[in-house]
Amino acid sequence: MNIVESKMKEKNKSIKGFSKLSKKEKIKWISTNFFTSEDISKELVSFWHPDEAQQKIIDGFSENTLSNFVMPYGVAPNFHINDKIYCVPMVIEESSVVAAASSAAKFWAERGGFQVSVEEMQKVGQVHFTFKGDFHLLQNDFNIIQEQFLIDTQHITANMRKRGGGVLSMELLDMSHLEEDYYQIKVTFDTCDSMGANFINSVLEEMARSLLRYVANTDWDIKDIQIIMAILSNYTPDCVARAKVSCPITALGNFGEMNAATFAQKFSKAVKIAQIDPFRAATHNKGIFNGIDAVVIATANDFRAIESCGHSYASRDGQYRSLSYCTIKDGIFEFGLDIPLALGTVGGLTQLHPMAAFSLALLGKPSAKELMCITAAVGLAQNFAALRSLVTTGIQKGHMKMHLMNILNHLNSSPQEIEKTCHYFENKVVSFSAVRDYVDGLRVNSLS
Ligand code: MEV
Repeated sequence: MNIVESKMKEKNKSIKGFSKLSKKEKIKWISTNFFTSEDISKELVSFWHPDEAQQKIIDGFSENTLSNFVMPYGVAPNFHINDKIYCVPMVIEESSVVAAASSAAKFWAERGGFQVSVEEMQKVGQVHFTFKGDFHLLQNDFNIIQEQFLIDTQHITANMRKRGGGVLSMELLDMSHLEEDYYQIKVTFDTCDSMGANFINSVLEEMARSLLRYVANTDWDIKDIQIIMAILSNYTPDCVARAKVSCPITALGNFGEMNAATFAQKFSKAVKIAQIDPFRAATHNKGIFNGIDAVVIATANDFRAIESCGHSYASRDGQYRSLSYCTIKDGIFEFGLDIPLALGTVGGLTQLHPMAAFSLALLGKPSAKELMCITAAVGLAQNFAALRSLVTTGIQKGHMKMHLMNILNHLNSSPQEIEKTCHYFENKVVSFSAVRDYVDGLRVNSLS
């Protein structure tokens, strides 16, 4: 291809009005300009939902949709949480996670289950603005301004107030020591069983308009005030779920060759390491989020919000640390996780997404608070399972068993090949090339 042809080809990769094309036209444009094979369209269409109405709902969640991205939907049974038993839905693409959660759930079901509490469920939103006038005037009038905010947002908050929620408090913060002329109105909310992002943002934007109207009606200079932005904060340290498990060390049982006392000592050391070393803490918390995210996605909650909040909380004293803790006192092993989880069970996609509605039905239509408890318990179970493997056999043994199956499926292995390969790799290191070579060998032998 000469330079002119290659430039033309690149040019074809940009387009005006892509969003206006029909889905079929979008796919056609993509396959013509980014691929050479017709099969691309077939592949994309093959993942469309067979029921057109369902597909329309799914397409409505996003823009420029071509197809659906499929993820495995599994369940982890036997979760005993606050004396109720749950079969927890988990959406995750990583092998071993659901198996590990299920195994930890069963382990703790036999030792009293998970105790989880949620004390408060407050969310935060902020109106960020600059003000060049006399801050004391604003401060003096803030009580009147707050009253006005409540009146001006009544139409938005009416339903939430009927459900027992709404605006809880407002605070005017002077941030000008950090950034010139910068002030903030910090608002706390109770959004009941909804995550409440849209509600909070609508209220905040109305408050911002109300603030401008207020200033316009004073003899202050309207040019002195500028709204920078009005938006919820995904940091919700007043939405913490506290999950824990505990039992006498002797009741932990043995772990292969390792006795309970050694296990408890190594386990608690592993947690301490994650509390002091950010490099380890990031991986340790990632393991917690393997479980948390899987439930959050299965219930169509916002996993990005949950992640960013969890990591902010893990850094709340200025250093990134483990979200879980472990204590050994008077022969009792206790393992716990404190994690902010601003989840919802009404609104958003929770009922719109057919699989999320199914997940919530499977969990017995929980309140937001109950879903927070379930999710925190899964995070703790996941962390327990990971550390149990790490301080005993090492993580690769279990992981590689699942990985081996993925490789065998990828190689379209027959049941006989699977049986022979699993047996062969029982005590060997699994890698893609080693498995492929072994399966190739089996295939050659079967031909000869
Ligand atoms: C892998 O997805 C998660 C782990 O690395 C977590 C951990 O190290 O604690 C196993």
